Amino acid sequence: MAKQNTAKNYLSGKEIRAIAKANAKEMKRLEAYKNRKADESEFLTQMKKQENILEIEDLHTFFYTEQGIVKAVNGVSYDVPKNAVVGVVGESGCGKSVTSMSVMRLIQGPTGQIVDGSIRFVSNEYKRDEKGNPIPKAGAEGEYEMVEKVYDIAKMPINEIHRIRGKQIAMIFQEPMTSLNPVFTIGQQLDEVTLLHVPGATKEMAKAKSEEMLRLVGIIPENVYKAFPHELSGGMRQRVMIAMALAAEPRLIIADEPTTALDVTIQAQILDLLQDIKDKIDGSILLITHDLGVIAEMADYVVVMYAGKVIEKGTVYEIFQDPKHPYTIGLQKSKPTMSLDDSTELYNIPGNVPNPINMPAHCYFKERCAKCTAKCSGEYPGMVQVSPTHFVACHLYDEENNNG
Ligand SMILES: Nc1ncnc2c1ncn2[C@@H]1O[C@H](COP(=O)(O)OP(=O)(O)O)[C@@H](O)[C@H]1O
Ligand code: SF4
Ligand SMILES: [Mg+2]
Repeated sequence: MAKQNTAKNYLSGKEIRAIAKANAKEMKRLEAYKNRKADESEFLTQMKKQENILEIEDLHTFFYTEQGIVKAVNGVSYDVPKNAVVGVVGESGCGKSVTSMSVMRLIQGPTGQIVDGSIRFVSNEYKRDEKGNPIPKAGAEGEYEMVEKVYDIAKMPINEIHRIRGKQIAMIFQEPMTSLNPVFTIGQQLDEVTLLHVPGATKEMAKAKSEEMLRLVGIIPENVYKAFPHELSGGMRQRVMIAMALAAEPRLIIADEPTTALDVTIQAQILDLLQDIKDKIDGSILLITHDLGVIAEMADYVVVMYAGKVIEKGTVYEIFQDPKHPYTIGLQKSKPTMSLDDSTELYNIPGNVPNPINMPAHCYFKERCAKCTAKCSGEYPGMVQVSPTHFVACHLYDEENNNG
């Protein structure tokens, strides 16, 4: 990339042209890779651990902007075990959504690109004959032979993603209106999921399934099946989104700030619903939120992100009872509690996240960290394992410090 003059906070015309040229070259290369035709063998892989449904490893997702490269996700690794809820937390802008959008391959090119890393996912699909038709299961009407395949989603050509998106992995967004189509009824949109994903599904089967899903999310189908999205409240729309995500029977649901746009009482209801669903579905939930209270209530494992990197991860117990990273400790202090009366200021971690275009070579938290030592001006800290499930990227826990 073009060398930028960091001594001033503006770019010269020459620098802007150099950035544009370098960006154009990279974007062209990455778009060609994304749109290539590839044999399945190119993106079939193996899981590192059998207990996981998703393994994100060293993921890099960048935005090639006029000011330079925004390294929104800069070497992120975390796992989602089968039948578990993994919570991802961190201040706004730290790369939580860009990571999950990368998993769904919804990053908007040519500016946004997955540049490096792996996203391994265990897909459970219909076994198909030479013509591509699903093979019926002998002696079980309406059922089909299934097969498990591990894909590296990051390496899939974009036109293969239909194998996974919306079917194996479903997503619930913050603002349901953006994902519901205003010109179709709720029933039509729900039916569509079944018609699209279940071989041989009839309209009647689809309707029955849609009604079942609506009941599952606490909606009386008669009132809502024929309604249009704008006729429903925000809470109801979010329930419909959850019903829609469930209709495809996904193995992984990604819920990105699913309650942020709702008012507090509805938030609690939606969280209860997700909790309920967690027990009912044979799958996992990746729950993204900046709300630590939500994570404490729902998650089995927690991933803490800061400025495009994972800085700590562990079980919910480890992260809440024994947080290691000064940032995680700071986040917990900033968590609102019921005991705070209105006159009490919330604790805020002082300082700002560094400029995402010119990240320093040292720990990104250094300028805000009260525990910083001489070592913190050196290399970016590596991940240190402090228990079989607990990892932290901070020099305070480096091997030599632990041993000495
Ligand atoms: N389309 C885009 N163009 C440039 N930068 C982007 C784009 N989308 C996201 N980013 C940047 O990526 C970073 C991570 O964003 P995001 O994952 O949305 O954060 P959050 O943790 O709040 O979900 C932010 O610095 C954001 O400004
Ligand atoms: S590496 Fe240093 S600056 Fe970074 S969080 Fe740890 S103590 Fe603070
Ligand atoms: Mg987000």
